[in-house]
Amino acid sequence: MQKKNSNGKNYIGLMSGTSADGIDAVLVCFSSPRKLKIKATHKQAFSTEIRAQIQTLIHSGQNDLEAAAELDVILGESFADAALHVLEQANLSVKQISAIGSHGQTLRHRPNSKHPFSIQIGNPAVIAARTGITTVANFRIADIAAGGQGAPLVPAFHHWMFRSSRSNRVILNIGGIANVSYLPSDIKSPVLGFDTGPGNLHLLLGDPYFQIAPPKSTGREYFHLGWLKAFMEKLPHPISAQDVQATLSHLSAQSIIQAIRIWLAGTNEVYVCGGGSHNQHLMAILKENLAGACLQTTEALGLHPDWVEATAFAWLAHRTLTGRPGNLPNVTGAKKAVILGGIYKAG
Ligand SMILES: Nc1ncnc2c1ncn2[C@@H]1O[C@H](COP(=O)(O)OP(=O)(O)O)[C@@H](O)[C@H]1O
Ligand SMILES: [Mg+2]
Repeated sequence: MQKKNSNGKNYIGLMSGTSADGIDAVLVCFSSPRKLKIKATHKQAFSTEIRAQIQTLIHSGQNDLEAAAELDVILGESFADAALHVLEQANLSVKQISAIGSHGQTLRHRPNSKHPFSIQIGNPAVIAARTGITTVANFRIADIAAGGQGAPLVPAFHHWMFRSSRSNRVILNIGGIANVSYLPSDIKSPVLGFDTGPGNLHLLLGDPYFQIAPPKSTGREYFHLGWLKAFMEKLPHPISAQDVQATLSHLSAQSIIQAIRIWLAGTNEVYVCGGGSHNQHLMAILKENLAGACLQTTEALGLHPDWVEATAFAWLAHRTLTGRPGNLPNVTGAKKAVILGGIYKAG
């Protein structure tokens, strides 16, 4: 029998973002203070069929409950596969893992509606049953119930992992939607965080979303192809696909730059993570326009940009199991800090 790791706690983090490109899985060992070690990583692309099902259900008007419930279970199986993959890769046994933290796949995020909600699928009971590992999931709803946006939830982890007493840092996660965490050097100043808008989804700067002061969060219900078409119909002449693409790239960059300039003016250093950190064009525009701040990827702080989000959900599961809050009320707008997530026990 393998011995339990006495120096820290092993968690698996599972993440699938708005891009619906696939599952990011990490096996990470947390030890205090502020130490973590990634033991295994795995990217599991969704099949064309699963991606098509997600794309269908992600848009408003598609309210097929049965299809959503089935996809919930199908994704639960996929998330379980991804977890078992990193477990095998790390050469650890089920007993050596404290829990899985699974973000799930967002189908709807409506924190501002009359009856606010956020729906993430990827059935956690299925994940717990298939892996034999206790699974924490549905992280957003407790924050929403406490009056918050339910998002972003990663700033608490960013603060734990990346803060510095010497400089004001921004962690910029560029996925389908981009979000920022502002980590002030002064421990007494509050951490800030919000979604800046589309990251790789690409869309347009005159939109009122960009002017709204945080707390704010958004998703594909708002930034989608119909949003772009409505904008293009207002143009006097049709423009080429290449011009649309180039414009959208700039829009993603400019909305991020604008958000940092207006709301996070004291920023000294920016560290990028998420798939957008691989987009050299986007990174070059950011670098040029954020000249007052040093721009690098989170690799410079010891965590590869591809695994920050999944690691954050492993960390959030750790918070939940140890009875500690995971939200930052100042970021999400919740009335108070709350313990996040439902716990689905294995066995
Ligand atoms: N090499 C690359 N060049 C440009 N863009 C990339 C590259 N790799 C990934 N991306 C972009 O990153 C997105 C996925 O990033 P990810 O952080 O997984 O986002 P999400 O959390 O929304 O799934 C892809 O949809 C793609 O647009
Ligand atoms: Mg992704």
